Amino acid sequence: MSGPRRLAVYPGSFDPLHNGHVDIIDRCLPIFDDLLVAVLRNEEKQPLFSVEERVEILHQTLAGRARVRVESFSGLLVDFMDRVGAITIVRGLRALSDFDYEFQMALMNRRLAPRIETVFMMPKEEYSYVSSRLVKEVFMLGGTIDGLVPPNVVERLRGKVRA
Ligand SMILES: Nc1ncnc2c1ncn2[C@@H]1O[C@H](COP(=O)(O)OP(=O)(O)O)[C@@H](O)[C@H]1O
Ligand SMILES: [Mg+2]
Repeated sequence: MSGPRRLAVYPGSFDPLHNGHVDIIDRCLPIFDDLLVAVLRNEEKQPLFSVEERVEILHQTLAGRARVRVESFSGLLVDFMDRVGAITIVRGLRALSDFDYEFQMALMNRRLAPRIETVFMMPKEEYSYVSSRLVKEVFMLGGTIDGLVPPNVVERLRGKVRA
């Protein structure tokens, strides 16, 4: 097939990246030519990792995936999509509890930019309960998160505890 490469954008907080996110990224690769993981700079949330740290973690973890790149953005997602020339947003759906918020966001983004479509992907069942919030909570309370996050994330979390 020829024509322009199909670029999708996977936006989120990724505070921090976990294997549910990685699973969604890997599911995108057979469908899209290129994937841009976009870390939202959100002044309202109190993140554990800075945007720079989150981008670094993503770079490290995804270094072997040639068609994936990572950037941060602030402001409206649809404006960012225009800047990078993408018309597809990828979001993950874990459970019914994600649906309400995701549905609202997708329709608001459509209202702002009708040309942009949001597509939803379901993770492998074993990651369907994993969230950044729970990963942080369990780690801080001394529980094991091996197998739920990439190895470099465990290292980074240890670093936060020491700091
Ligand atoms: N375990 C998971 N499986 C599949 N998708 C997930 C999982 N955890 C989060 N996601 C999805 O990844 C995207 C980014 O999530 P997150 O980092 O929490 O950012 P946001 O602040 O936008 O929710 C969202 O679409 C979210 O639904
Ligand atoms: Mg979330």
